[in-house]
Amino acid sequence: MQKQLKEIRMLAEKEIAGSKSEQEIETLRIKYLGKKGCLTDVLKQMAKLSAEERPLIGKMANQVRTFIEEMIEKRNRGIKKITQEERLRAEKIDVTLPGKCRKLGTKHPITTVLEEIEEVFIGMGFNIVEGPEIELDYYNFEALNIPKNHPARDEKDTFYITDTMLLRTETSTVQVRTMEKASPPIRIISPGRVYRVDEVDATHSPIFHQIEGLVVDKNVTFADLKGTLEKFVEKFYGASAAVRFRPHYFPFTEPSAEMDIRCFHCQGSGCKICKGEGWIEILGCGMVHRKVFENCKINPQIYSGFAFALGLERLVMYKYSIKDIRFFYENDVRFLKQF
Ligand code: DAH
Repeated sequence: MQKQLKEIRMLAEKEIAGSKSEQEIETLRIKYLGKKGCLTDVLKQMAKLSAEERPLIGKMANQVRTFIEEMIEKRNRGIKKITQEERLRAEKIDVTLPGKCRKLGTKHPITTVLEEIEEVFIGMGFNIVEGPEIELDYYNFEALNIPKNHPARDEKDTFYITDTMLLRTETSTVQVRTMEKASPPIRIISPGRVYRVDEVDATHSPIFHQIEGLVVDKNVTFADLKGTLEKFVEKFYGASAAVRFRPHYFPFTEPSAEMDIRCFHCQGSGCKICKGEGWIEILGCGMVHRKVFENCKINPQIYSGFAFALGLERLVMYKYSIKDIRFFYENDVRFLKQF
């Protein structure tokens, strides 16, 4: 039996040393130390031994067991270390390699300029609100004091969806929607898309953007309108910019005006950009009409207000010297990459 134990010890030592994974070691553990393992087999034969031999063999068997157990533990540790080193080697990265360059897009020039304008008005205490592009006839016309027979309602000018629903032709709709809900003081701007049946050419598009503005409070006068818009132009175009107001007509304001800026290209002497005028029109404005207030249940005896709307595309075209409005919507990356 002594011989048998020695053999087991030798064989186990050899096999454990040659094992390559934790599973392999586990299989060997079962083979040698398990309930049906080699060592147990030997111990089962102990009954046959004499009383003197038994403790000797018992001791020896225990030593073999301890030896095998220690071998297993040592080999397990060794294998763990090797696997960890292999993983570290595989996951090694070269931090000196150049990074992968991701191409980021840029903002559309319309977005860039819109954000600049929003910034200026937010600085003057305005809030930004939005309104629906699919609008009721009532908000687009009726509530803005544009009666049933007004030419602006002509189906040649307007995209109708049903008899009472259309694509809004102006952002002034948001004035009414805002005044219906909020009570004065009101100070908002509302940027958004508007739609008109226009022949497409270098300066006309059936879709374009406006930025509506509305201020309602007690004692608001035309001087406030002028002061606010002059300040806006000064912030947007710089201190050297000059503006002028011309009388105009809009159904929802009284009095109404258009505002021009002095041509930034020729400084007023007349050039191709301002078509020899020296001035460029950039917005419509006026004092909110009494009837519009009444439609929104705001008392015109107590409150007054002014409103305006800028055409966004035009400002962007002037700013970047863009000659054709169609570039904005064609999504040609050669155009967009320039901004
Ligand atoms: N809604 C007008 C248009 O699209 C522009 C306009 C003029 C808006 C005067 C206003 C305003 O708020 O007061 O032509």
